[in-house]
Amino acid sequence: MAKDKTSRLPGFYNLPLAKRVTRIAEYAALTHEEQQLLGGAMGLSIEQASHMIENVVGLYALPMGIATNFKVNERDVLVPMVIEEPSVVAGAALAAKLARAGGGFFATTDDPIMIGQIQVINLKQPWAARLDVVAQKQALLDAIKEIDPILTRLGGGPRDLKVRVLETTPTGPMLVIHLHYDVRDAMGANAVNSACERLAPMIEQITGGTVLLRILSNLADQRLARVRVTIPETALAFGDFSGEAVAQGIEHAWAFAAADPYRATTHNKGIMNGIDAVVLATGNDWRAIEAGAHAYAARDGVYTSLSRWQRDHRGNLIGALELPLALGTVGGATRVQPLAKMALKIMGIQSAQELAEVVVAVGLAQNFAALRALATEGIQRGHMTLHARQVAMAAGAVGEEITTIAGMMVQEGAIRSDRATTLLSELQTKEGE
Ligand code: MEV
Repeated sequence: MAKDKTSRLPGFYNLPLAKRVTRIAEYAALTHEEQQLLGGAMGLSIEQASHMIENVVGLYALPMGIATNFKVNERDVLVPMVIEEPSVVAGAALAAKLARAGGGFFATTDDPIMIGQIQVINLKQPWAARLDVVAQKQALLDAIKEIDPILTRLGGGPRDLKVRVLETTPTGPMLVIHLHYDVRDAMGANAVNSACERLAPMIEQITGGTVLLRILSNLADQRLARVRVTIPETALAFGDFSGEAVAQGIEHAWAFAAADPYRATTHNKGIMNGIDAVVLATGNDWRAIEAGAHAYAARDGVYTSLSRWQRDHRGNLIGALELPLALGTVGGATRVQPLAKMALKIMGIQSAQELAEVVVAVGLAQNFAALRALATEGIQRGHMTLHARQVAMAAGAVGEEITTIAGMMVQEGAIRSDRATTLLSELQTKEGE
C-alpha cells in the first residue's frame, strides 16, 4: 500500500459486499484476477490443493475480512483476516481506530533466527561431550554455511550453536544441541531441519553418541515480535463509561490474567484470535505460532498473560505484547495459495519481519477489544449486534437499513428473521411515503 494511503475507511462496514471488494481492489491496485479471487472465486484450485497435502478430496473455505484503521510503525495498513468467528474483525478495527489517537502501534522484531534441535543419546559422559561440541563449534557452523545458497545470498545462514545437557530425563541423560539459524523471510522449518540433518554425522563423530531427533523447535524465542500502544484516556470513553473507568477496568482485567492461568488461557486465546486470523490469511503455519505463543506464555514456569495493560501517570492506557512469531513471506503456502499472496499485497508487506510487526499489532488490538468489552458492557451485546446485522441482511436490508433494523431488533431483544422482515417492510413503507 502506498505511504500516503489511509487505512481509515469510514463506512466500509456498511458498504454492500461488491463495493467493499472494489474499494480494496482500488486501494491495493489488484489485478482483475485478484479482484475475482476477493469476490469469492475459489482462491485455490483442487489441482493445486492436491499437490499441497495427501489424499485430497475437496477444498474448505473460510471468510476473509479486512480490518481497517491499522497504523503500524507510522504506516497505514489494511489487514486481511481469515476467521469463522464473528466480532473479531470488527473488534480489531475498533481497537485500531482508538489506537490512532495515540499514534497507532509501534512494533519491533528480532532477527529471524530459528532454533533447530539435535538430540544426542548413548553418551557415557554428557558433560565432556558438551565441551567437545563447543570446541568444534566453528567447524560445525562452517560445514553448513553453504547448505542453502539462496538463504546465504540473502544474508541468512547458521549463526550459533548452544549445547545443553539434560541430566534427568525419563530415559537418562542426553545432550541437546541448538542450532541458531537466520532464515530471513522464510518460516524456516525446511532450512533448519536440513541443516540439523546435515550436522548429525559430524556430531556423532565428535561425541561418540547417537543422534536421534533433528528438528526445529517451535519455541522460537530468538525470533520475538513486540508491540506497544498508547490509548489516551479521552479516547476510551463510550456510552455511560468514562475513559477512566474503561482504563481501570482493562488494567484489572489484565491483572486477573497475569495472576491466574485459567483466565490467562482465555485472555491469550483472545490475542490469538487476531494473530491466527492474519497468520491464516497469509498462508502461514498457525499451529507453529500457537505452540510457540503458549510455550512462551509459560516460559517462567507458570502460564500467564502474553500482554500487559497499565495506565501511565496521566491515566492513558499503555498496552504491550511480546511473543515468538515464526512467519514467512516466501515458501510454504504463502506463495502457492493465491489468496495468501494477495493478502500480503493488500498489506503492502515486503518482508517477514514487517509481517510479524503487523501480526503482533493485531494481537494486541484484539486483546484490547476483548478486555474493553469484558470490563464494561460484556461481550454478548457486541455479538448480538453483529448477529442482528446478519439477520437484517438476510431479510433483504441494504445500506443504512441494516444498521437501523439491527438496532431496533437489539433494543427490542427480538433478533429473528420474521421480525427483521416486518421491520424492513415498515421502514420501506415509511421511506416511500
Ligand atoms: C473469545 O473468542 C475471546 C475472548 O474470550 C477473549 C477474552 O476473554 O479475553 C472474548
